[in-house]
Formats: sequence, structure tokens, C-alpha cells
Amino acid sequence: MAALRKEALYEGLTTRSFGRKLFVFSEIDSTNACARTLAEIGNPEGTVVIADYQTAGRGRLGRTWNAEPRSNLLFSVLFRPSARFPAWHTSYLVSEAVAQAVQRSLDIRVATKWPNDLLVDGRKFCGILLETMGPAERTACVAGVGINVNQDNFPADLAGKATSLKLATGKSVDRVSLFQTVMASLESLYEAADRDTGAAMLKSWMDRCTTFGRPVQVSGGGPALDGTAVGLSDDGGLIIRHGDRMTTVYAGDVTISDPAT
Ligand code: BTN
Repeated sequence: MAALRKEALYEGLTTRSFGRKLFVFSEIDSTNACARTLAEIGNPEGTVVIADYQTAGRGRLGRTWNAEPRSNLLFSVLFRPSARFPAWHTSYLVSEAVAQAVQRSLDIRVATKWPNDLLVDGRKFCGILLETMGPAERTACVAGVGINVNQDNFPADLAGKATSLKLATGKSVDRVSLFQTVMASLESLYEAADRDTGAAMLKSWMDRCTTFGRPVQVSGGGPALDGTAVGLSDDGGLIIRHGDRMTTVYAGDVTISDPAT
């Protein structure tokens, strides 16, 4: 697989701000760590760090994110959410933007799973790690996106759970063109969400979400909780009905307990 080149990533990029300030690495510890530093020294919204390989890729809940070199898309986007736009929306917005871009590029149906995983054929091909910074989480947030694009093999512990776009479609996918489509999709959803406080974007995200109305177990963000996922709270958490109680969770992994249906 060819390495990513900055000139190729720019050529055909249609956005005004997202990806216009672009830092490209063949190898880095974590694009999120780098983007946080760039945020601290004042880089603008829309700045992107992308790498062909990460030596210390970060996943949600303190996990690591491993991906084969030069096969995938590993990037982080810097946001500076406005007062009209709650910071927690960013996680759903990035998830929805990647889903729309993949659907548009490859003509496949993409589903979401709370909090922001993207699935094809019930298997995860994209994870998103949102890291917020600053007072009231308003100064900046960094959305790290790992898309399994052309990876052929996954470790045994992910068998049946992880996939790549190449495995799902049977064809190699052009990483540069997919990156450009994701940037365009991000910019247009972000601008629309800034106008309507994210209402339409959240509705699209929820419409493609496989989590609602299903019996689930939420684990990893505190004590495990079994119940039915019924919706999103006003501050972006997942509402679980269990017995005659409702509990809102803000972190964790969702396992759907009726996967056969
Ligand atoms: C998850 O656990 O599902 C989230 C994974 C997020 C991985 C991406 S890869 C690019 C960016 N840089 C990181 O260190 N992590 C995110």
C-alpha cells in the first residue's frame, strides 16, 4: 500500500476549513495527542492530523487502537464548538459524517452503535475517540477517527466483531478519496448543525442507530447495567430502562443481547 502524501490529500479537497490545515505523518504516537498539542498552541478549527501508522493509538475507555501501517485512515480533527452547539454533539456529528461519506463513496449501508461506533454487516469498521479540553469543555475538542479501510486481518480477539471496508465490499478502497469525502461531509454537517443546533444531524444519527429499542448490557463505564436502550438524553447520554427505572449512561460499551434478531 502506498503512503499518504500531503499533495494528494489536498488535490480534490473541496472544503473551506476542514483539512485545509493538515499535518501528515508516516508514523506518530497518536494523532489525538498531536492534535491536542496543536489545539493548545492555538491552531484553528478544522485542523487535521493524519498518520499512516500509530505506535500508541488511543481507543475509548483507556484501550489501545491498533491498525496495520498504510492500510487505514487514522486522523484527528480539531473542533472549537460554538456556544450554540453543545460539545457532546461533536461525537455524534463525526460519527454521522463518516457514515454518510462511506455510504456515498461505497454505496453500502452503515449503521451506528452507541456511543459512536460505525458498523457494516454488524461488524465495527470505525471507532471515534472524542477528547475535550478547556473550561466547560468549550475551548477545544479533538475527534480521533480510526477507519479500517483496507486491512485484511484482525487479531483473534476481534474475530467476528471487526471488519474493514475492503472486507465488506470485496474491493480495495481509495484512502485519499475517502478522506476527502469525509472532510466534505464533516464540513457540511457542521455548518448545518451550527444553524439548527444539530437537530437534523442527531435525527439522522438516531435513525441509523442499532441500539435503540433493544435489550442491551452497558459495561466498562461503571457497574454493568442490563436493560433496554430507549433514547438519548438532552445532554447526549444513553437512557436505559431497567425494571421501572431509567438510568442515563455517558460512557461504556453496549452489547446488544438479541443479536440474532
Ligand atoms: C474506539 O475505541 O472505538 C475509538 C478509537 C479511535 C481511534 C482513532 S485512530 C486516530 C485517532 N488517534 C488516536 O490515538 N485514536 C484515534
